Amino acid sequence: MKKLLLIILPLLIICAGTAFVLAQNNQKEVTNMTLTDKKILVAYFSWSGNTKVIAEKIHTQVGGDIFRIEPVTPYPDDYQETAYGIAKEQKDKGIHPPIKNTDISSYDVIFVGTPAWWYTMAPPVMTFLEQNNFEGKIIVPFVTHGGGGSYTIDKDMAKLAKGAKVLSPFVVANRGNSNTDKNITEWLDNLR
Ligand SMILES: Cc1cc2nc3c(=O)[nH]c(=O)nc-3n(C[C@H](O)[C@H](O)[C@H](O)COP(=O)(O)O)c2cc1C
Repeated sequence: MKKLLLIILPLLIICAGTAFVLAQNNQKEVTNMTLTDKKILVAYFSWSGNTKVIAEKIHTQVGGDIFRIEPVTPYPDDYQETAYGIAKEQKDKGIHPPIKNTDISSYDVIFVGTPAWWYTMAPPVMTFLEQNNFEGKIIVPFVTHGGGGSYTIDKDMAKLAKGAKVLSPFVVANRGNSNTDKNITEWLDNLR
């Protein structure tokens, strides 16, 4: 009996180990299917720089191209004027302001970054999603906020970007902290 155990036990350990390694590989494969061999764009709007910082961190990890979504008429530098003036008016009246030309047609996966503005994405990002053809493309949202979280920004994006598949967002307060790079890596690893 003791002899039998000596043979069976190592076999069991080897089987369990193999199963674990296979499960890990399978997980990586899912990630690779999302990003490997795809043309990637990181597009973001940023007023005070937080979303820009996160966009650059994501770009460092995923590669591809990066650009900033810019309204034709820039927002004022003053917080009160922007937050309680123009941005509030755009939110209340459903205005999607004109933005400088963008062409996403050659990309498969588009990371779309926005600050939370009045409980949803910033209006120039709405214009970006509305005026481009996202049919068959993957959108990966990322959101920076001042304490309110990401609200329903991913769902709001899906409504505007017709035909796109919208994945789960990366969400961070302001421009993150010393763990943000690691958190981005983990989020990318688990992209679905
Ligand atoms: C017009 C405006 C509206 C905002 N609305 C919200 C909000 O609804 N919820 C929230 O948590 N933070 C809100 N914030 C804070 C920003 O989301 C936060 O500071 C963000 O990181 C700024 O990103 P940026 O530096 O890329 O512009 C708002 C800021 C501005 C200027």
